Amino acid sequence: MVTVFGLGFVGLTTALGFAHLGYDVYGIDVDETRTEILRNGKLPFLEPEMEDVLQKHLNHNFFITDDIPKAVTNSNYIFYCVGTPYGKNGCADLTYLFSAMESALAAIKDETFRVLVIKSTIPPSTTAEKILPFIESKKTSSQRLGIANNPEFLREGHCWEDFTGADRIILGCNDNQSQEMLIRLYEPLGIPIKCVSQSTGEFIKYLSNTLLATLISYSNEMSEIADAIGGIDVADAFHILHMDKRWNGCDMTSYVYPGCGYGGYCLPKDTSALYAQAAAKGIQPPILKHVIETNHHRASVIAKKISSGMPKDSAIGILGLSFKPLSDDVRDTPAARIINELRTLGYHNIYAYDPVAMDEFHKHYPEILIQPAESAHALYNVSDVVAIVTAWEEFREIPSYGSKKIVDCRYMLDKA
Ligand SMILES: NC(=O)c1ccc[n+]([C@@H]2O[C@H](COP(=O)([O-])OP(=O)(O)OC[C@H]3O[C@@H](n4cnc5c(N)ncnc54)[C@H](O)[C@@H]3O)[C@@H](O)[C@H]2O)c1
Repeated sequence: MVTVFGLGFVGLTTALGFAHLGYDVYGIDVDETRTEILRNGKLPFLEPEMEDVLQKHLNHNFFITDDIPKAVTNSNYIFYCVGTPYGKNGCADLTYLFSAMESALAAIKDETFRVLVIKSTIPPSTTAEKILPFIESKKTSSQRLGIANNPEFLREGHCWEDFTGADRIILGCNDNQSQEMLIRLYEPLGIPIKCVSQSTGEFIKYLSNTLLATLISYSNEMSEIADAIGGIDVADAFHILHMDKRWNGCDMTSYVYPGCGYGGYCLPKDTSALYAQAAAKGIQPPILKHVIETNHHRASVIAKKISSGMPKDSAIGILGLSFKPLSDDVRDTPAARIINELRTLGYHNIYAYDPVAMDEFHKHYPEILIQPAESAHALYNVSDVVAIVTAWEEFREIPSYGSKKIVDCRYMLDKA
């Protein structure tokens, strides 16, 4: 049996993924609102396909429980999928991870070998330097435990397909028993499995996310240069760049494209955490430093573009609040940064519309005052200038509403 701590995007997908493979799975989350929604067969966030999978397995072989001793006692595999948000000085905050580990350790009373699997994103060497000493200080002499790092690469909006059709599964283990158990667990997925050390597993996740952040900051910097030079069709230039057969046909092109800067739960905090870790080791990595600065700077570039030539009492319409389309996730969303920049520039008459993320935005940013619009069309009608900040497909219609100034911050509109 498998127990999964944390039932967010990663944990719920992992739990349902193993249930789908036929294993019995316990899911644990400290957020009672979240577990209540899940117990009713609903998803607490927008994620295609997952609700059907949840309803298929809920109470058949996927059990949401508060009974940690029962779940842990019956499980050989304990997965940690809790959040690792921004901590002090941009470091990864491991509080939730330690708390979940402590509650499992307190519940293990027998001598069965169990593998504790960390799927949460943690900076390289965290297992060696922090988690192993933590476990050593908490475990009893009879507990037999292996520790593994198993980073997750799923994309929100594609969680299910990315778990069941992952490119590779990475098992960062420093002992053979954990490695063999995890290979057995994952083998039925038929996905290539790469076995590495714990620190290598941790590092690969940051290698991936910092590269994606770099591609985005590079693309944004190039578009700023192009705008300053003038006479350059930025969208065309990037689309033609993508025709190079070394890019063509690969999904990576969506990261090599200008926009509003990277956002969401992972790229900002993970880039910052690796930078903070490097700084603590005495290195000031110049590329990462500028990737982060370029991303911060992007919001002010966009805000100036939107407000250029507009009187301070103009009504500014923001289309899109989630950090990307097909998602209601507003964590670290560029929309919040851009609205704050507009306010700093003296624009306070700001309307906003998002097809799914209005409530989440109000919940996360109660201090950011926006006037909600009922629809994209309603927003267009009340605004003097309209800015496309999230690339929802429905926003392609905007030019047909009239001749107001539209700032296509996502370079998504077809040219006439
Ligand atoms: N969201 C992504 O796209 C993504 C992709 C790959 C990796 N990751 C990483 O996976 C981890 C989880 O991300 P997420 O997006 O699923 O986060 P999330 O915020 O959606 O979910 C985390 C869940 O953990 C729960 N939790 C916190 N403490 C707990 C405890 N002690 N016991 C049980 N549950 C607890 C929270 O209530 C929350 O529901 C993070 O480290 C993240 O960086 C996220």
